[in-house]
Amino acid sequence: MTTFDAGSLRSAAALIAEGRLVAMPTETVYGLAADATNDTAVARIFEAKGRPQFNPLIVHVADAAMARRFVEWPPLAEKLASRFWPGPLTLVLKRRADCAVSLLASAGLDTLGVRAPAHPVAQALIREAGRPLAAPSANPSGAISPTTAAHVRESLGDKVDMILDGGPCPVGLESTIVKIDGDGAVLLRPGGVARAQIESVAGRKLGAPSQASAPQAPGMLASHYAPQTPLRLNARAPCDGEAYLGFGDAGSAGPLALNLSASASLQEAAANLFAYLRTLDKLCARRGLRAIAVAPIPSAGLGEAINDRLNRAAAPRGHSIRH
Ligand code: TXA
Ligand code: MG
Repeated sequence: MTTFDAGSLRSAAALIAEGRLVAMPTETVYGLAADATNDTAVARIFEAKGRPQFNPLIVHVADAAMARRFVEWPPLAEKLASRFWPGPLTLVLKRRADCAVSLLASAGLDTLGVRAPAHPVAQALIREAGRPLAAPSANPSGAISPTTAAHVRESLGDKVDMILDGGPCPVGLESTIVKIDGDGAVLLRPGGVARAQIESVAGRKLGAPSQASAPQAPGMLASHYAPQTPLRLNARAPCDGEAYLGFGDAGSAGPLALNLSASASLQEAAANLFAYLRTLDKLCARRGLRAIAVAPIPSAGLGEAINDRLNRAAAPRGHSIRH
């Protein structure tokens, strides 16, 4: 169900213009949006999320023309944007000298992450507000990203000025983040566009980020996207006292189990992942279960991003800040 209409869009754009926070649906996950050119507004995002200041924010633009106002635009950026925008790909590029986006959004780096989202509500809000929108996923730092308006209400409800409800997010995983540096391209975070697709358009392999330059993306922090309940990965079946998150044939019957995709579709699994983790997390708390066992997920295509999120959700806590 969507409560989105022209009136709420106008109110949301007015709030953005006043420097307030609006949660907006994108095709990946819900974002916590604010005017990217307003320092106070961007600072409010960090405060609402409880996010360490060194983690930069993605700036959402309507299209490549809008992105070019803020970042340098080498041929590889044009190539990738013309194939994957609007869509779940974030490009990290050098800020232009005259870049009007708050330096806070770059967290002290000389680069900016930009993305043109494909969701009609996000597109409409950017255009109605007439400015770029800084928006991290609309969850408290380190927690599971929201894929419905209800998820946002549950975890950040009192900290946002308005939530635009666009229904469940069709992709369900955050964008793929690629840093472009001259001719080179580095995969900072696997996400909604599979690596192989990007490599085929880029005509080159994506490099791996260097440890020295961490944290380039907090999605890269060891513990992230974490439910309260511990996860046990690559489990063919649940043990006693465990809930089960299945995939394909590795399923389990009963009230303590969900299947990410009975037909073994990675796309369907990605769309269900965060919502199912939340549901099982709550179930475990209610029933006093000790863990969520998770079926093995193939690593091809979107499986790379799904496994990335599961590994971080399973990582020991207390390692959530690398330095
Ligand atoms: O799909 C998505 O990307 C969602 C929707 C709302 O667009 N947004 C999202 O934002 O996942 P967030 O803040 O939760 O994750 C953005 C990641 C962070 O890990 C951040 O470090 C990285 O992008 N990032 C942003 N700007 C960067 C930059 N200049 N250099 C390196 N990493 C950057
Ligand atoms: Mg996030």
